[in-house]
Amino acid sequence: MIVRKKYNGTPFFQPSDMMAELISRQYSLLQVVSRFGMTLGVGEKSVSEVCQLNGVDTNTFLAVINYVGNGCSPEFIPEPDAISLPSLLKYLRESHTYFLEYSLPSIRRKLIGTINYSSSNEFSFLILKYYDSFCEEVRAHLDYENKIVFPHVDALLSHRATDFTIDAFDTEHDETADGKLNELKNIIIRYYSSPSESNYALNDVLSDIFICNEELDAHGLVEENLFLPAVKLLEAHASEIDDFLIDNRTEDADASLLSSREKDIVVCVVKGLTNKEIADKLNISFNTVLTHRRNIAHKLEIHSPAGLTIYAIVNGLVKLEELE
Ligand SMILES: [Fe+2]
Ligand SMILES: [Fe+2]
Repeated sequence: MIVRKKYNGTPFFQPSDMMAELISRQYSLLQVVSRFGMTLGVGEKSVSEVCQLNGVDTNTFLAVINYVGNGCSPEFIPEPDAISLPSLLKYLRESHTYFLEYSLPSIRRKLIGTINYSSSNEFSFLILKYYDSFCEEVRAHLDYENKIVFPHVDALLSHRATDFTIDAFDTEHDETADGKLNELKNIIIRYYSSPSESNYALNDVLSDIFICNEELDAHGLVEENLFLPAVKLLEAHASEIDDFLIDNRTEDADASLLSSREKDIVVCVVKGLTNKEIADKLNISFNTVLTHRRNIAHKLEIHSPAGLTIYAIVNGLVKLEELE
């Protein structure tokens, strides 16, 4: 269950809270709301009503809102079974689109518009180059999740097997490009002296870089502390189901597997021999024939000679022409 404690002065939202109030109280959550596919114009609707209208699991929405809204504090990490992975996947995929198609290109456009780029201005040129290489790293990271990690979870949710396990993601995930954006911020703050007329524009792009850095950090933490544990739980359930199916398949296979002596008996039965004749032919006692026949009937769940005939032909124990 989600932590229900309300911390002193710390926003902690509940399903019955008004969505409009949530956004007004903490405007930084607006982007989180949008990434769940929700738009403004929420009227007087509660959080759970807006979630329902948008096909989003309310617990998952609030888990992300309360975690991100409280600075990704460990106290706000929900239990893995409180997370609906389809809803969280929707949010993470949309977050990737937001970074790749909106946030990062917007910062680049602002950098170009703010800093004087020309062949004579090597410093500005290097800043843009540095930013582009950061974007490439972020793109590679998000592409890996879009193409490998998320489809793996889709497959698990539809009970399909994959070769991937989430442990691979777990070990590689902290190697993100966040440090580069931090460095870029520091380089601009410490070493770029802008002409005074472009101060406001430079501050604007710098603010965007700060926000983007925080958003990428929060995104990574949501993946590590909400997404990853929920996927591990799903994998554990999937492997329990697999084990169950394998056990049952093994039992079925054993059941259909007749010993060579039992196969001999089946052949005799379908050829019309009596139990006494079978005992004589195979040099075994009459009672042994009866025991074998009981076992065969139990394993195959076939009790009549006609049924055994079909079984024997289908499994190549006899040919149709051998039968009268
Ligand atoms: Fe991601
Ligand atoms: Fe990630």
